[in-house]
Amino acid sequence: MDKREVKIDYTVYENSCPSAYEAICRKAVEVIPNAYSIYSGFSVGSAVLLENGEIVAGTNQENAAYPSGLCAERTALFYAQSVYPGVKVKALAIAAFNKGIQTEDVVTPCGACRQVMAEVVKRYGDFEVIMIGRDRSVCLKASDLLPFAFTLL
Ligand code: THU
Repeated sequence: MDKREVKIDYTVYENSCPSAYEAICRKAVEVIPNAYSIYSGFSVGSAVLLENGEIVAGTNQENAAYPSGLCAERTALFYAQSVYPGVKVKALAIAAFNKGIQTEDVVTPCGACRQVMAEVVKRYGDFEVIMIGRDRSVCLKASDLLPFAFTLL
């Protein structure tokens, strides 16, 4: 028997964001009004910083057939890879308003978004994820969000 453990490091920024990623943190909040979230009232914004310096943002887009909607993080990541295929993702920021008020707690990505992030890590290497709340942000590596992610290849 070989007992092992998974440890994750994360950094908390009180009343701020990591300075290197201020632009995507601002963008993630700025795009929140573009969310289509009439069913949940939970509006999420996400912004991705690419190696070529481009910033691509996305919001959650809901649908009357609930599972057909898409989270902000996947909208941003898929859009980024559609417009700039093969360009490495350096960082992704997420923020949310619940019924018009910014969430006090930092927004943490859902499991499906983590799985998509895991594949982005596999393609281009690790990247930073900045989860934003009203009074703080938390920064960690995408690879730490989903240990034992599913892979096919
Ligand atoms: N949502 C996101 O966009 N990102 C997350 O990380 C969690 C949840 C969306 C999906 C749905 O439109 C709404 O938030 C409520 O779950």
